[in-house]
Amino acid sequence: MVLPAFTPAQESLFLTLSGRALDSRLPHPFLGDRMADEILRKTGYDPLARFPTMRSRLVDPRTKVFDIAVRAKRLDAVVRAFVGRHPNAVVVDMGAGLDGRVFRVDPPPTVDWYDIDLPEVIALRERVVPRHAHAHAIAADVTDERWLDGIPAERPAVIVADGLVAFLPQDGFVSLLGRLTSHFPSGELAFNAYTTVAVWATRHLGSFATIGGGVVNPGFNDPHEPERRVPALTLAEEIFLTRAPELAAMPLAGRLAARMIAGSAWMSRMSGTTVLRYRF
Ligand SMILES: C[S@@+](CC[C@H](N)C(=O)[O-])C[C@H]1O[C@@H](n2cnc3c(N)ncnc32)[C@H](O)[C@@H]1O
Repeated sequence: MVLPAFTPAQESLFLTLSGRALDSRLPHPFLGDRMADEILRKTGYDPLARFPTMRSRLVDPRTKVFDIAVRAKRLDAVVRAFVGRHPNAVVVDMGAGLDGRVFRVDPPPTVDWYDIDLPEVIALRERVVPRHAHAHAIAADVTDERWLDGIPAERPAVIVADGLVAFLPQDGFVSLLGRLTSHFPSGELAFNAYTTVAVWATRHLGSFATIGGGVVNPGFNDPHEPERRVPALTLAEEIFLTRAPELAAMPLAGRLAARMIAGSAWMSRMSGTTVLRYRF
């Protein structure tokens, strides 16, 4: 398949897709998304050529995929719990890339699901991600004002963004949060956080050279920061992957490092992956 020339922000979808695909090839996967591997194979994209950490022989395969696979699992769990309580919910996956989250979550048919991404990505998505009866794709920049007009406004919503926030300018991110909380009557918003250190690392470390140029958000270290910017939001949960039960299946070095850090929320926030969940 001839792939379009993606920007670094768009190409980042292959890092998360590859992480889930490689996870599914493990003897005991953390997430086990076999469809991710099928989608990756259909595209013909070679993650080993583009992401040095994925090809490194020094890094254990479980370590390569842990953060990507387990954060996807946590975001799936947020969606699953929400649609369990609200069978008429709307699900919005912002910056969905080529993720088949709707197939993993498998919501009841009363749920409407919206996958949003930039037009070039949605065009590829339509070629390689299987169709789902209750999922709709919207080709839009999430910082544009109009895309929400096409989504029902009278139903509770759960909104997720896996790997997106780093690629949004700060003013665009804040006004997006404001529009989401005004559009829906109530709901939840969950995303993986980027600290200032994580942003710096993604911009400057050679291992992220393929996507670093797309990172424009400054990041934030205090999970209450979005509440201050958008008062409709209330932080409901801060999920630290340094405390994930799945760490039991990691190599010894990873387990020990996480155990040293896990006792401190600050250290967990600054050095590990965190999923933030807000209510509105
Ligand atoms: C790291 S990828 C994650 C993709 C997907 N969520 C996953 O987990 O595989 C980030 C995604 O955000 C999308 N993206 C970046 N900026 C965007 C914007 N302004 N509007 C919509 N999507 C955007 C990119 O095209 C890309 O698909």
